[in-house]
Amino acid sequence: MIKVIEKVFKLDTKNSTYVFRVSPFGHLFSEYYGDYISDVDNFDFSKEKIVCPAGSSVIYDDEKDGNYTLDQYSLEVATVGKGDYKTPSIIIKTKEGYLLDLIYQGYEIHPNFKPLDNLPSPHGDMEELVISLKDKVLDIVVQLIYIVDEENDVIIRNTRIINHTDEKITIEKVASMQLDMVNHDFEMVSLYGGWGFEAQKAIAKLVPGIYMNDSKTGSSSNRHNPFFMLKEKDASYSYGRCYAFNLMYSGNHFELVELSSFHKVRIQTGINPFCFSSALAPNEEFISPLAVMTYSSKGTNLASIHFHDFIKNRVIRPGSVNKDRPLVINNWEATYMKFTESKLKSIIKQAQKLGLEMFVLDDGWFGRRNDDTKGLGDYNVNKKKLPHGLKGISRYSNKKDLSFGLWFEPEMVNMDSALYEAHPDWVICSSIRPPSKGRHQMVLDLSKREVQEYIISSVNNILDSYPISYVKWDMNRHISDVSTSSYEAGEIYHRYMLGLYHILEKINLMHSDITFEGCSSGGNRFDLGMLAYFDQIWTSDDTDAYERINIQSGYALAYPLRCLSNHVSAYKSHQLLRSINFDTKFNVACFGALGYEMDLSTFTPAEEKAIKAQIAFYKEHRDLIQNGDFYQLKDIKTSPYALWMVVSKDKKEAILAYFNGLQIMNPSIEDICLVGLENDALYSFEVRSQVHDIKEFGGLVNMILPFHVNERGFLINTISKHKTIPGEKESYILSGSALMNGALKLNQQWMGTGFNDQVRALGDFGSRLYYIRQIDKQ
Ligand code: DGJ
Repeated sequence: MIKVIEKVFKLDTKNSTYVFRVSPFGHLFSEYYGDYISDVDNFDFSKEKIVCPAGSSVIYDDEKDGNYTLDQYSLEVATVGKGDYKTPSIIIKTKEGYLLDLIYQGYEIHPNFKPLDNLPSPHGDMEELVISLKDKVLDIVVQLIYIVDEENDVIIRNTRIINHTDEKITIEKVASMQLDMVNHDFEMVSLYGGWGFEAQKAIAKLVPGIYMNDSKTGSSSNRHNPFFMLKEKDASYSYGRCYAFNLMYSGNHFELVELSSFHKVRIQTGINPFCFSSALAPNEEFISPLAVMTYSSKGTNLASIHFHDFIKNRVIRPGSVNKDRPLVINNWEATYMKFTESKLKSIIKQAQKLGLEMFVLDDGWFGRRNDDTKGLGDYNVNKKKLPHGLKGISRYSNKKDLSFGLWFEPEMVNMDSALYEAHPDWVICSSIRPPSKGRHQMVLDLSKREVQEYIISSVNNILDSYPISYVKWDMNRHISDVSTSSYEAGEIYHRYMLGLYHILEKINLMHSDITFEGCSSGGNRFDLGMLAYFDQIWTSDDTDAYERINIQSGYALAYPLRCLSNHVSAYKSHQLLRSINFDTKFNVACFGALGYEMDLSTFTPAEEKAIKAQIAFYKEHRDLIQNGDFYQLKDIKTSPYALWMVVSKDKKEAILAYFNGLQIMNPSIEDICLVGLENDALYSFEVRSQVHDIKEFGGLVNMILPFHVNERGFLINTISKHKTIPGEKESYILSGSALMNGALKLNQQWMGTGFNDQVRALGDFGSRLYYIRQIDKQ
């Protein structure tokens, strides 16, 4: 709800309030963001009372008010040259230089905001406030836009700049939002990483100075995700004040947090000013991407849930949000590019037996693509590998009750390809120096209309010709060699993104029933912009379950489980060369859109039975996992084990996950405090049954066998393939209040001295899932 009380603007969501005002000189002052506060007629209480200027301040207009200094006030937008020495949110170069003084002109409230034409936007009805400001002298108009998503407790913002002067002006920086506020001893939580170790949590106490989280790779990047949080010192997953921010944009971005001399925090996010400029001719305008922000007074989990709900209800394509994410078998780690039709068929056959639903044919199906040096760009099927073409393999999948999905990397080209031979001028590179490549490939210049049209028609042609239900859209390198070509170099990065959004919009529109998975060497482009077109994103090329606990925990701070694509992969991780049992691999991967990515023919009969049980469990609880509220309770990096929970919106059921790190000696009895349930309701709590491989117990088997066996010998290996040892049984009936207050004690862990059907023998990287279901109200 948007309210205007005199010159104060009050934006209310279900649980939060945001207040800013127009100052006597027409500047916009940020005044409050926090828990919901009630309306009153006079908002003098929230004014910053500055009755004497700090020494060495520049006074804005000392004839009218000797105390008015922009440096000391909290500002909604900051420009250059009138006494605010913190980082400006807008920098525009005009004939005069960089001076800009934005003065309030008026506002409009629209009952329903209109989605942006060329940038990803949320959907659905939401009230919009447009504040118009104009430079005191030049005819440059800046509009600050606020969209209120009451239901999901999110405020969406962006900035529009319109040049009404007679001259060209150049935008050198435009933040989508700025917010100044008092420092609550904040810590900044951001997600950093690289290939295979995306979304690592970085937690930094704010110290005076500027903290910059950004990407310069051309995409939102695996280096620094655009999402970040500011949480009060000591705030935890379920306690304390927390502000979270994100940007609906997939290109170079920046997030700035500045702790200034007045102990205030300035927050900005938007397109990265690095190598960016945008010239506006008279009457042209520039629209920034949308930034989103939310507030929680109950720790970081609640802020994450606000963003998850926002993404589910407003960002993901409306037609796909209620669709179950399919259970995938992907052939990448099973075969890489070295496959034959008969190998794929054997994988599909086995996938059907296990109950999987979608076969996704990954890279290597086209052109001369037998390794990553050739063929990218030529999407004509490789008949040597697939003699019956895409038709043959897709029909075979369908015959085996699996839908068919296909991999593309449409933004890229190998120099050794027919596409490059035909259009060497379509790539991003300088005309006067040799290009640098990534994974032997070049980036197509999506700022060019003809490249956009080519990609739309070549991808659509394939999608129209075969029964394709799923597209994995990959992008495997950063952008380099940007130079002035059809556009000034400062515009290329942003125009690339606009070109990509145009392509995706067109392809989405024509194929609304296809599930789209985004990918960029894993999570190198995991952001809100992409989620407007891709229903889910391949989280990381690192499929090792232990690493994934951390990666998924990082991404889940910002993005809902249904968007995290996770696969169970080979027993020995290809990335870490670490072996982890299939149950832990499943227990981790099932917190998202689940798939398998391995040679399914390698399972022993015992493993096959366990995998079938996993798939059945996932199908039974898919709705809870993909649509419930996700809570993190303990972190694997700061505690010996991680704890996650997903709880249905109606609190009637939940799953608790317990992931062990390294096994410790003498583990203590654990009392676990759950969250999100109903205090008064009665719940059943039951472990998902798992089994032990006899080999887990090594030479100890000799303690119970009447004869001696070699723990690594033929007999044990044969038993291990066919027989398993049942895991512990654990179930209770108890109240929500008992579950949430730590009254439940889990079974004792393995102590090294005995074993029976009550012992929770986890071992290194062992894990359990517990299913919790409401039976009745007390
Ligand atoms: C990178 C992706 O992240 C992988 O899953 C796989 O699709 C390869 N690209 C294929 O080249």
